[in-house]
Amino acid sequence: MTHPPLPPFYRLVARDRVASTNEEARRLAEAGAGEGTLVWAKEQNAGRGRRGRTWSSPPGNLYASLLLRPRCAPSTAAQLGFVTGLALALAIEPMLPPAARPAELKWPNDLLLRGKKAAGILLEASAAADRRLDWLIVGVGVNVLSFPSDTPYAATSLRAEGASGDAAQVLAAFAHWFHRWHERWRRQGFAPVRRAWSQRARGLGAPIVVRLEEETLEGRFADLDDGGCLTLELAGGGRRRVSAGDVFYPGV
Ligand code: BTN
Repeated sequence: MTHPPLPPFYRLVARDRVASTNEEARRLAEAGAGEGTLVWAKEQNAGRGRRGRTWSSPPGNLYASLLLRPRCAPSTAAQLGFVTGLALALAIEPMLPPAARPAELKWPNDLLLRGKKAAGILLEASAAADRRLDWLIVGVGVNVLSFPSDTPYAATSLRAEGASGDAAQVLAAFAHWFHRWHERWRRQGFAPVRRAWSQRARGLGAPIVVRLEEETLEGRFADLDDGGCLTLELAGGGRRRVSAGDVFYPGV
């Protein structure tokens, strides 16, 4: 396949077909591969999504996993999911016709176009004995040419939204923006990322429904906190910090 131009931070590992690029990146991480190793595959036959779901992975879409070795606590590394979402939005937005802009972000890690999911992010990490991270894998799946029709949420693709660009172009643009914001996060911390992410967040300040493993919460999406948690002002009073769950927008 044609290899996209990438900043020198990256070392590209391109494959035709793998089970999961996250799995391949994990294998490389455990064999000692360095930060910046970027696994890219044309298709996956066991692509995985958040919360144990599968990720449909036919040829034509983007499947990539980046290996990072941030020497920080796992809770801090969750911030990199927001760096990733922001980088995806900045990469994809210029490819969209005006009617499909802006690219919006859905807590915690989805990218939406006209309210439909066009990309997802899966973070997987392993902590070292000192409880700092040994490795973190940032997996991104972007529906470039096609999208699944059997999802519990509305989905779309860049092509369906009228965008130009193939998987290699999306990867090159994502790598560029990720590198810039990753550097900024390293130098200045989460505050600028949080601000930029919040500007693109769908539903911030508005009523939302959050489905957790065992309960469903309703309230106002008040804030994204320092740890990347969603702060919900509960409909019945009080506030609740949510670290993992699925967000739904009433009336959609
Ligand atoms: C989600 O929204 O549920 C996250 C989806 C993440 C999918 C990507 S595709 C590349 C990488 N490899 C995987 O197996 N999953 C991620």
